[in-house]
Amino acid sequence: MLKIAVLTSGGDAPGMNAAIRAVVRSGIDKGMGVMGVKLGYYGLINGIFIPMGPRDVGGIIQRGGTILGSARCPDFVKEEGQLKGIRALRQEGIDALVVIGGNGSQSGAYAIHKHGFPVVGVASTIDNDLYGSEMTIGVDTALNIALEAIDRLKVTASSHQRAFLIEVMGRNCGYLALASAIAGGAEAVVIPEKEIDPEDVAETLRVAYEHGKSHAIIVVAEGATYNAQKLVAFFEKHKERLGFAVRATILGHVQRGGSPGAFDRILASRLGNKAVNCIAKKEYGVLVGLSKGEVKTTPLEEVVKNKKKIDLNLFELARVLD
Ligand code: ADP
Ligand code: F6P
Repeated sequence: MLKIAVLTSGGDAPGMNAAIRAVVRSGIDKGMGVMGVKLGYYGLINGIFIPMGPRDVGGIIQRGGTILGSARCPDFVKEEGQLKGIRALRQEGIDALVVIGGNGSQSGAYAIHKHGFPVVGVASTIDNDLYGSEMTIGVDTALNIALEAIDRLKVTASSHQRAFLIEVMGRNCGYLALASAIAGGAEAVVIPEKEIDPEDVAETLRVAYEHGKSHAIIVVAEGATYNAQKLVAFFEKHKERLGFAVRATILGHVQRGGSPGAFDRILASRLGNKAVNCIAKKEYGVLVGLSKGEVKTTPLEEVVKNKKKIDLNLFELARVLD
């Protein structure tokens, strides 16, 4: 009987539990034995395995976070850690591993693949910065959480005729900022892929007021050079000249903690199921992701060697519609 293991790694994302559930139940459906690895690569290095049956993943599809736990594990970036993890897998009698996670986690999966151990990745991060998947598990839910916050800020911004900065997550990627700016009808958006002069942000606000807007919302990606903290400092310094100040809200981890929406539950179920099908076909060293709405695989080598590009047409769209 084939024995597989599944782990979640890096920043948790709403829908990871639905992906674990899909891996466990699809594996069992195919007659495989399934183990869970607790705490991502930390648990792998330290051999923390738990058996997973169909009932162990009951009632988790609607839960945010990950029942297996996740971790950032610097030791796994080193070859010594990777070999220790692979030894633990072999000792446990595991034939193949499923890694649910983002960019860093898939780099770890690629390292495992290069060491000759069968592995399949599942695209999951709220950042949507993973090459090989147009949408990753967790993005849609995080986006809706950011949107709810923007809608609420707009209400108070209008009442007080104020400008609000809202910083959303995205370490190196502006997708969440751009998408929430468009969906939230923001006046301006600041992303790492298209750096902007703070004077331009100030000008956008000035024009917005001139056009009679009662509020202004600027969505900022945390990874932008001018993040919320730096923009607030800029506006504070120049408030006499500009004639207004801004308030900032940093959403932070609130965005990651939601209950997954339908899109993420379905995406996670499809990707988790496909990962098991890949193992059954001995298609290893690949990432399972979404392309033009279809589930597809991309070699992990390609995934780690390429950077996903953001669609800058969306940036233009945000500008036209502000
Ligand atoms: P995410 O997967 O969400 O992008 P991280 O970038 O923090 O999150 O990566 C998660 C974990 O993946 C890291 O803590 C580390 O254990 C592992 N990892 C990251 N980069 C590499 C790498 N180049 N080689 C091996 N493992 C890596
Ligand atoms: O990768 C997901 C993410 O939420 C990024 O958007 C953010 O920069 C980072 O994780 C935060 O990491 P941590 O949870 O370790 O603070």
